[in-house]
Amino acid sequence: MWSALCRQADRISFHMPAHRQGRAFSREWIDSLARCDTTELERTGDLADPSSHVRQAYDLAAAAFGAGETWFITTGTTTAIRIMLAGALREGDEIIIPRAVHMAAVHAVAILSLNPRFVMPVDGRPFEDGQPDTASFLAAMRDHPEAKAIYVTCPDYYGRTIDLRAIATEARRLGMILLVDEAHGAHFAAAPGLLPPTALSQGADIVAQSAHKTLPALTPSSLLHLSSESIADGRICPRRVAAMVRVFQTSSPSFMIAASIDLARAAMSREGAEPWRRIIELNRKLTDALPAHYRRVSPPGSDMSRLVIDYSQFGRSREEMAFPLDRARVDAELIDHRRIVFIPAIDQPEDDYDRLTRTLCSVRPVEDVALIESHARRLEELEKMRDTLFSARPLWQCTPRRALFGEMQFEEDQGDGMLKYATNVIAPYPPGMPIAWPGERIDERHAAYARRMEESGIAVRN
Ligand SMILES: Cc1ncc(COP(=O)(O)O)c(C=O)c1O
Repeated sequence: MWSALCRQADRISFHMPAHRQGRAFSREWIDSLARCDTTELERTGDLADPSSHVRQAYDLAAAAFGAGETWFITTGTTTAIRIMLAGALREGDEIIIPRAVHMAAVHAVAILSLNPRFVMPVDGRPFEDGQPDTASFLAAMRDHPEAKAIYVTCPDYYGRTIDLRAIATEARRLGMILLVDEAHGAHFAAAPGLLPPTALSQGADIVAQSAHKTLPALTPSSLLHLSSESIADGRICPRRVAAMVRVFQTSSPSFMIAASIDLARAAMSREGAEPWRRIIELNRKLTDALPAHYRRVSPPGSDMSRLVIDYSQFGRSREEMAFPLDRARVDAELIDHRRIVFIPAIDQPEDDYDRLTRTLCSVRPVEDVALIESHARRLEELEKMRDTLFSARPLWQCTPRRALFGEMQFEEDQGDGMLKYATNVIAPYPPGMPIAWPGERIDERHAAYARRMEESGIAVRN
C-alpha cells in the first residue's frame, strides 16, 4: 500500500485533503510529524479534557471560526456528526432531516434511536441532488413542530449553499436546535464577504466541519463548534457535548492530526482572504478559457473557490472525461455523469491550472448532434430517477436502528429470501448520498437506478 500511495506523488491534486500530498506543509512540520504522534502525558495534554496548550488551541480556533467553544475531532466529521447529534438530542427525539445526507448522519440517527422526519419538496418538484431549499425546510418545521432539531448540510458537495438565517430564526421560535454539516465549508471563515457566510454567523447552534477538505490539515481532521449565543441562552449544553466527545471519539486521539488542525487554523488566520481571492480568480480565468460546451455550475450563493464543471454538452461518457485527466496526471475530486468537481487548495499553483485548462480544452465533443441529444436525454432521465428517489415519501418498514442492528425480516409471501427493507444505506458512491435509508421499503425503482449507476461505473453501496 505504501508504495502504491507514494506513486501518487507526481500527480496534480484537485481533491481533498487540501494540503496536496503535503506540498502545502512546511519542511519543519513534515519533519516533526512522527514526533507529534504521541499519547496523553502530563506534558502533551488531553484532547478530550482540554487544559493548558490544548485549551489554548481550542480557544484560538473558537475565536477564528466565530464559535463559543470548539473541539478538535481527530477521527473525522463522521465522528463529529455523531457527537453533534448525541450532544443535542435524546433517544427517541424527532429530527427533521433530508433523506440525502452524508451516511454519517444516517448512522448517527440509527445509533441514537432518533426519529427521522424527512424534508419533502414544498412545491412537489424533486430536489436537485436531493438538496432541499430553505422553503422546504421551513415547511417541514411547520409540519413537525414537536421535532427537537433540524439538520442541514450546507454547503453541499458542489459548493451550493442555502439561506440558513431563515431556518435559524424559525428554529429559535419553535425551540428546535439547528445542526449543520458544514463539512465542505471550514474555509468560509477565512474570507467573509468573499466566500459564503458561515453557518455559525447565520445562527446555527452546533456545526461540524472537516478541516482537511478545504484547509491544509491532515485527514481525517474535524472541527466541532458550539455557538456562543446558544451556550449562553442554554439551548445547548457544553457539558453534554463534552461527555459525547468521550463516548464517540477514540481514547487514542491523534495529536498529529490535532496539531495539523491548529496549524491550519493559524495559516487561515494569518493569510486571511487573499489566498481565496487568488483561487477564485484562477477559477474564473480557467472557466473563461474553456470552450462553450463546458458550463460552470455556480448558482447564486455558491462557494466560488470550488470548481464544478458541467460537461454534459460534449455527449461524452464519464469514462471518456476521466481518461484524459488521468493521462495528464490530474486528479479531480469527483466525476459524475454530468459534472466534474475540483477542490483547489489554498496554494494551488498556476501551473496546475494551466495543465487542467489544456486537458479540458483537448476534449472534443462528439460530432453527431443527434448523439449529443440522446446522451442529454439519458442523463436527464437518470437524474430524474435519482431526484425522485431522494425526494420520495418514506415507506418505513422498521426503524433505521432495527434495520441496521436487529434481526433481519423477510417478506412472508416470498420464498426467495426477499428483504422487506433496506438493511443499510443505499447510496451511489461517491458522493454517498442515500437513495434509501435502512428500514425503508425498497422496490424496483431503487434496483433500476442502482443498475443504471453500476452500468456506468459508479458503485452503489448497500
Ligand atoms: C457532506 C459531508 N458530510 C460529512 C462527511 C464526513 O466527513 P469525514 O470524511 O471528515 O468523516 C463528508 C465526507 O465526505 C461529507 O461530504
